Amino acid sequence: EWTMKYFVDMEVERIRNTVGDKNVLCALSGGVDSSVVAALVHKAIGKQLTCIFVDHGLLRKGEADSVVETFQGKFNMNFIKVDAKDRFLGKLKGVTDPEQKRKIIGNEFIYVFDDEAAKLEGIDYLAQGTIYADVIESGTATSETIKSHHNVGGLPEDMEFELIEPLTALFKDEVRKLGLELGLPEEIVWRQPFPGPGLGIRVLGEVTEEKLKIVRESDWILREEIAKAGLDRDIWQYFTVLPNIRSVGKRDEKRTYDHAIGIRAVHSVDGMTSDWARIPWDLLEKISTRITDEVEHVNRVVYDITAKPPGTIEWE
Ligand code: XMP
Repeated sequence: EWTMKYFVDMEVERIRNTVGDKNVLCALSGGVDSSVVAALVHKAIGKQLTCIFVDHGLLRKGEADSVVETFQGKFNMNFIKVDAKDRFLGKLKGVTDPEQKRKIIGNEFIYVFDDEAAKLEGIDYLAQGTIYADVIESGTATSETIKSHHNVGGLPEDMEFELIEPLTALFKDEVRKLGLELGLPEEIVWRQPFPGPGLGIRVLGEVTEEKLKIVRESDWILREEIAKAGLDRDIWQYFTVLPNIRSVGKRDEKRTYDHAIGIRAVHSVDGMTSDWARIPWDLLEKISTRITDEVEHVNRVVYDITAKPPGTIEWE
């Protein structure tokens, strides 16, 4: 599209002029906004950009691989993947309170990023995927970006970055168009909203590796079936949660006492309010059967039919 090409040319020029021969850092989450900003800055200055991708071990199945494949593989960027799973799980051990979990994950994210950034030399700029919605509602829960005061304030004192935020005038649909224009794969451009604390707030209560596995596997089945049914762009957000209750069931004539999985699928515009998606019953049946057949330690599936308000979209 002409307008997006024009936008790319202008921004590339502007970024080059700003950056000169200096270097830029970007925190890549795999979300739409940070991915698009990374691709745009990379187009402008290539290897002068370094991306840091913190894998906190709370991502969905296949997600980390897709980020690596795209940015390290396809784009051949200066790309650092930090495998911080043990660090995050260690910090979360024994913690059950949702807000505490959020705080721990958020803080740890900044510490890990700082540790990695501190190893790099000669970085003057930080590129961020702040979009228009973030500017007008700075601090919204839906934002994928780390807010600038967090970023800058969370960094070691001898590191001072200037911010580069080329997406601040764009709406989400324009960010997606831009992403396609820059050659990002559809799976990243059309990625559904995903919270910063990731699966950490979809395992209710204490987060353990075994529980993460149950959520990850059931979520994968849900996403696969929703995509097969062609509903992946109709439903705003859809995922599974592990409510941390066990109930009695029966398999192969034997009594089981295992986990329940909750399915959440909502229509929304901005995440502030939502309605539950009327997924066809036959599709729900297929998803339920696959989850109980394929995911170990799950003997029951429930569907969340709560609007927001009074519910929230996430269960924690
Ligand atoms: P709730 O659960 O508050 O979610 O109805 C609204 C939207 O925000 C996302 N969400 C978060 N995003 N950090 C984020 O970056 C968070 O801590 C967080 N909590 C919820 C949620 O996935 C939904 O899209």
